[in-house]
Amino acid sequence: GLPERVTIYEVGPRDGLQNEKALVPTEVKAAFIERLLDAGLPIVEATSFVHPKWVPQLADAADLMTRLGAQGQDLPVLVPNDRGLDRALELGCRHIAIFGSATETFAQKNLNRSLDEQFAMFEPTVTRARAAGLDVRAYVSMCFGDPWEGGVPVEQVVSVGKRLFDLGASQLSLGDTIGVGTAGHVTALLDAFVAAGMGTDQLAMHFHDTYGQALTNTYAALQAGITTFDASAGGLGGCPYAKSATGNLATEDLVWMLTGLGIEHGVDLEKVVATSAWMAGQLGRPSPSAVVRALATA
Ligand code: HMG
Ligand code: MG
Repeated sequence: GLPERVTIYEVGPRDGLQNEKALVPTEVKAAFIERLLDAGLPIVEATSFVHPKWVPQLADAADLMTRLGAQGQDLPVLVPNDRGLDRALELGCRHIAIFGSATETFAQKNLNRSLDEQFAMFEPTVTRARAAGLDVRAYVSMCFGDPWEGGVPVEQVVSVGKRLFDLGASQLSLGDTIGVGTAGHVTALLDAFVAAGMGTDQLAMHFHDTYGQALTNTYAALQAGITTFDASAGGLGGCPYAKSATGNLATEDLVWMLTGLGIEHGVDLEKVVATSAWMAGQLGRPSPSAVVRALATA
């Protein structure tokens, strides 16, 4: 059967905006985050403490966190290494997320490290974060396919995912970075993680809708017992270092499906739609989310 309740992990302010060419003013980012929290989203990933040259859009991470004040300290932020952790600790962040790659090519392109070297970069960071009492999430990218390497074997994803999780994470988010996965593949991947000893309560799914499969894939993951799903308000986003990574699963599309299935999520759909319509105005183009297009007024 399906779960009674699902946690939506909102990534719009981070994954959604990181790829935007035109710089979004810090106060607009802060307002975006505040509106998402007000809409009932329980977790809103705020920004990234990565190298500003790699992701110029999020170079204002410290200003943003300062502007958000105490409420910002509970919001997760991406941290790739010790330098990123120093910056996050200075601002009182209590939740960080590391982000590894299931493939060699993407590890090089996104982290400037080999597949093996990425663990050596994350290990001291996670150890120090845990010692400081921080919660650590671990992402693994390219879990279904990679634009340079093609299909990614399930065993390779399980091996990388377990290694990242075992560094000391509380949750592993499995990313279909370029949106090529289909439902049977989701089931097979989750079966393999469970066979390798991971609980479905330790796993989250991070779908991109590039091929229109995100909701079908979500349904397959719900059936497998997953209860945390990443989504991006208005379907914003993509990864700057992954060719053909377009929109994340839209929060509104996910909320619509969950509501229809009678699964609790605690999110006010109207408020998220209004927020995405406002953000589309800020960015100067319409939201790709079908539900936003159907429901947005004006
Ligand atoms: P590097 O060039 O190898 O870094 O980049 P380094 O360790 O050699 O250091 C070089 C210089 O950068 C040093 O400065 C460091 O201090 C500085 P110098 O001594 O030369 O003056 N530096 C930093 N400065 C600020 N903040 C930092 C930092 N680290 C080093 N954190 C690095 C390695 C990991 C830093 C780089 O590759 C990077 O920033 N990558 C981030 C890429 C990124 O953010 N990608 C998008 C997020 S992943 C994603 O979207 C996928 C996901 O959504 C899931 C999915 O969809 O699959 C999560
Ligand atoms: Mg992503």
